[in-house]
Amino acid sequence: MSVSPCATMFFVTTWTEPASPRSTSTGTALLLLGRGSDPASERGVDCPGDLPAPSDPDLVARATAAKAALGDRAFILGHHYQRDEVIQFADVTGDSFKLAQQAAARPDAEFIIFCGVHFMAESADILTTPAQKVILPDLAAGCSMADMAVLGQVQTAWEQFEDLGIAGDIVPVTYMNSSADIKGFVGANKGVVCTSSNAKRALDWAFEQGSKVFFLPDQHLGRNTAVLEMGFDLDDCVLYDPHKPNGGLTDEELRNARMILWRGHCSVHGRFTLDSVREVRERVPGVNVLVHPECRHDVVRAADYVGSTEYIIRALDAAEPGSSWAVGTELNLVRRMALAHPDKQIMFLDRSVCYCSTMNRIDLPHLVWALEELVAGRVPNQISVDGETAHHARVALDQMLALP
Ligand code: 13P
Ligand code: SF4
Repeated sequence: MSVSPCATMFFVTTWTEPASPRSTSTGTALLLLGRGSDPASERGVDCPGDLPAPSDPDLVARATAAKAALGDRAFILGHHYQRDEVIQFADVTGDSFKLAQQAAARPDAEFIIFCGVHFMAESADILTTPAQKVILPDLAAGCSMADMAVLGQVQTAWEQFEDLGIAGDIVPVTYMNSSADIKGFVGANKGVVCTSSNAKRALDWAFEQGSKVFFLPDQHLGRNTAVLEMGFDLDDCVLYDPHKPNGGLTDEELRNARMILWRGHCSVHGRFTLDSVREVRERVPGVNVLVHPECRHDVVRAADYVGSTEYIIRALDAAEPGSSWAVGTELNLVRRMALAHPDKQIMFLDRSVCYCSTMNRIDLPHLVWALEELVAGRVPNQISVDGETAHHARVALDQMLALP
């Protein structure tokens, strides 16, 4: 993906959203991102004239200088959900899978600066050499989904499976969006990591190893992949709730299940509802609905296309000029795609706009600080996974990278 310089927020209105009966009186219009404004709501209202810079304009020059001073010693990875002000400094942009591959493919870079969230930086540390240092510019950049699976809870569940005599049939599969502890648990129990771009391949592999899968921590990715891509029934899936005794499941339910889904979800993608899809179809005739597989099952079922962030970018790049797209994923990416394709109508699927707050923790001040610390010979915010956890997690990550 090409990376544009820091965006300036003035646009020419090239397309007008079709009028909606609900947009004027009681509801708000579904706003096209980056084009025009919605005077009936508080969102997206244009400010005539020159807005002052959002933050110290010297920061761009400082980041450029620090990056140049570090040269080949530093490699900056940027997830697609990062802010424009940050992504412009990324050497590579990508989804979780591509960034994991890229981290593993850069053994000569002394510093890997990860503009993403904590679990991604942990995976990068596991996949790089001991001499390399992985830096997360703001340690508060976590992930609420990853936090929904805690090692002790997962071990308790596994003990329950052992007591029931089914653990030997189960292959654990964890989404990349999980802590290194969880990946270590999965590797130690002969499982695999997956991302949203290879979940089907990972599940195909897992079902060659055993008859059941324990899928962590995103119930939606697990369910969507099993039911919509692999032909399982919804009844083949059960939901394990770590906050209920025995996961809220009977022994019989666990014995019969093919997919045991952990009760976790993404707080950003979980916002999209079936109503969002219905509403945009009503409002924009012929619209294509394109969503990430972290969305709820009913939303994915109602969508036209589903895929990882890399898939979403490819689909929008390839879309016909004049076509309309309502996209259910994080707003920074949707907004960037809308700006990159003024000849296509690209809009956010939900009526209420929500960024991933933890992805947004990485801002230009934190990136500049991290780069300048490195220039000064100090290593800030290093993400370091302990040896034993890293060893087991690497088994599960390598298994993912080796998937056909
Ligand atoms: P991908 O990068 O695999 O598309 O996942 C999206 C996501 O939620 C990352 O946090
Ligand atoms: Fe986590 Fe969702 Fe944010 Fe991704 S978008 S980092 S899964 S909360």
